[in-house]
Parts: sequence; C-alpha cells; structure tokens
Amino acid sequence: MSNAKNPCHSERSEDSAQSIDIRSALKLGIAQLRIANVPSDTLVAELLLLEATGRDRASLYSHPEDPLTGGQSQTYFRMLEQRAAGIPTQHLTGKQEFWGLEFEVTPQVLIPRPETEHVIEVALDRLALRDLRSQQKTNMSGAGLLFADIGTGSGCIAVALAKEFPAAEIYALDISPTALSVARRNAARLGFANRIHFQQSNLLSVFSCANQRSGKIRQSPIAGRPRSPLFDLIVSNPPYIGYREAATLAREVRDHEPELALYGGEEGYELYADLIAQSAAHLKPGAILVLELGHDSLPAVRPLFDSPHWTNIGVTNDLAGIPRVLSAQLTAQRRETPAVVRQRSPA
Ligand SMILES: C[S@@+](CC[C@H](N)C(=O)[O-])C[C@H]1O[C@@H](n2cnc3c(N)ncnc32)[C@H](O)[C@@H]1O
Repeated sequence: MSNAKNPCHSERSEDSAQSIDIRSALKLGIAQLRIANVPSDTLVAELLLLEATGRDRASLYSHPEDPLTGGQSQTYFRMLEQRAAGIPTQHLTGKQEFWGLEFEVTPQVLIPRPETEHVIEVALDRLALRDLRSQQKTNMSGAGLLFADIGTGSGCIAVALAKEFPAAEIYALDISPTALSVARRNAARLGFANRIHFQQSNLLSVFSCANQRSGKIRQSPIAGRPRSPLFDLIVSNPPYIGYREAATLAREVRDHEPELALYGGEEGYELYADLIAQSAAHLKPGAILVLELGHDSLPAVRPLFDSPHWTNIGVTNDLAGIPRVLSAQLTAQRRETPAVVRQRSPA
C-alpha cells in the first residue's frame, strides 16, 4: 500500500492530514493503536483527539463530519505515534482525573491510579469511626485536624483530603523536589494551596528531633504550630514495586514513570518498616495511619503492626480483590518509637 494517502504513516502529506474528518481520524487512530497493542485503544484515540482538537466529547460525536485543521491533524497523529511507541496517554495530555479533580501530570510524578482512591475512602471511614468509638461528634470539616501525606507525588491524596475536609491542614511531603513542584501547582490551581504545606523530606525526617537540633527546620510553616507536629492522620502511597519485578512491568510504567515513585527496594516492601515506625512517633494517641499496599505486600507489611502501639488493624481490598489498603490506629498510650531513617537520593 502506498503511504501517500495514509495518515497513519508519519510521512503522510500535509494535504491528506488537513482534509481528514473527525470520524476518519478516530478510526485511523484506533487502528494504529490496535496494531501497536495499546490497551483501551478506542478510549485512548478518543482522548488524544479531544486533546488535539480542544473539543468536548459531545461535540466530537455530534459533528463527526467536521474536518480537523492541519495543525490539529498534525498534533493528533504525532501523539498517536508517541502513544504507540509507549509514552503514557497522560504524559501526552498532561492530565489525569483523581477523586473527581483534574491533576496536572508530568514524567516527574506517578500518574494517579484509580486504586489509590481507596486510600481516601478508608481515611474518611476510619476518621468517622474513630469519632464514633470515642463518642465524639463527627468532625466533618476537619477543623483542628492535622494530616500528613508521605510521598505526595502529584499531590492527589493531599488535595483530595483537603477537598473532603475543608478546614483541615495538611503537610504534603516528598523526597523529590521536582515532584513537589508539580504538587504545588496542582494545589494552587485547584484552590487548596493555603491549607497544604509542601516540604521536601525523606519520609518524616523533616520533623525529626535531629533535624530540629541541627537547625534544619527553624520555624514551623504553620504559624503557632509546634516544630514537630503530631498528626491526626498519616496517609501514604509509598513506592512498593520490587526491582526484581521491573521486567514484568508495562513499558509505559517501567520506561516513563519516575523510578523513585515505583521501586521500594529489591523486594518492593522495604520502605514500610521505617514508614510505620516513624508514623508511630508522629501520630497523636488514637490517630490513624492509612497505607496503600503493593499487590503482594500484605504478608510482609501486616506483621509490622504486631506491636502494642497499634490497634484496630484493617485491610481493604481493591475492586480486583487485591488487599490494597492497610489501616491502623495508634493506641491511646503513645510510645516513642526509634525511627530509622533510610537514605534515598532525590530525583
Ligand atoms: C507511589 S508514588 C505516590 C504518589 C502519589 N501519592 C500518588 O498516590 O499518586 C510514591 C512517591 O513517594 C516519593 N518517595 C519515594 N521515596 C520517598 C521517601 N523516602 N520519602 C518521601 N517520599 C518518597 C516519590 O518521589 C513518589 O512521589
């Protein structure tokens, strides 16, 4: 077949690119993605066409005969080629929806995943249950509550919590300064920047006594807060994939998402011990810890809660039936836990 009139081919002529209509562009896009074994080819072609044309879905399907401009056509077919070569759709469109909000996504942050929404659901349930158990009125607004999101990435968890608790204050921590820049932009664009405090930190080390003694934190970013605040809720979706699994990952993930966001160590679950120990030292008595788990992390992580520090331990499955979220409550008598700080390098 000649390539001269084939818009799937990168050498298609400008004329053929200009004359294509929406219906044909969609059909060609789906075919190109299918040949490249891209999952959800129809949805992806549609998302790229929406992005290239700036239209909404209704207008795409109500005017399938409308021609694409030359520029729209070039953008669309260039994105199709990039997607077929393994670049994630979200890196081409620059966005991903999470908890009903649109987040900016760049190659510096993990693309928010639907299963991470279970972390928010569990956090909401656990806080409500805690109030119920202690016979307190449910604190719907989050007034007076302080949360921490460890490994905030795009900021999706911190922002979702800020949306659900309009009066809570939140620390969003990440070891990666480039991820924090994206998270800051998301919080600002979505209108939550005044209640989310971004800090570069290896787990919770920015709050450790050693750092305070060495003067690394001179002042709490929240006026009037103690330098090492105690939290009502700590949430984290830490990196939990094992380097030994790297070869099994989809190329979109392995080759395009940040290593710091993916791998927890050779096995994957290595970060949890420090994360849990440091959280125990930074939660108020009776406060809640909610952690996302890797698909096979539970057997390694669950025993870390076999200590008198923790009570009311719960495991929540995701929609695929995989144990995805582990939650626990610090006992009313908080004890100091020696927190080992593992060294990782920022991106
Ligand atoms: C799996 S991603 C989660 C991102 C985001 N919270 C989400 O759910 O989409 C893990 C994040 O943890 C950060 N991270 C990795 N090691 C860390 C550490 N030791 N301390 C703090 N953050 C870390 C990574 O930079 C990355 O942004």
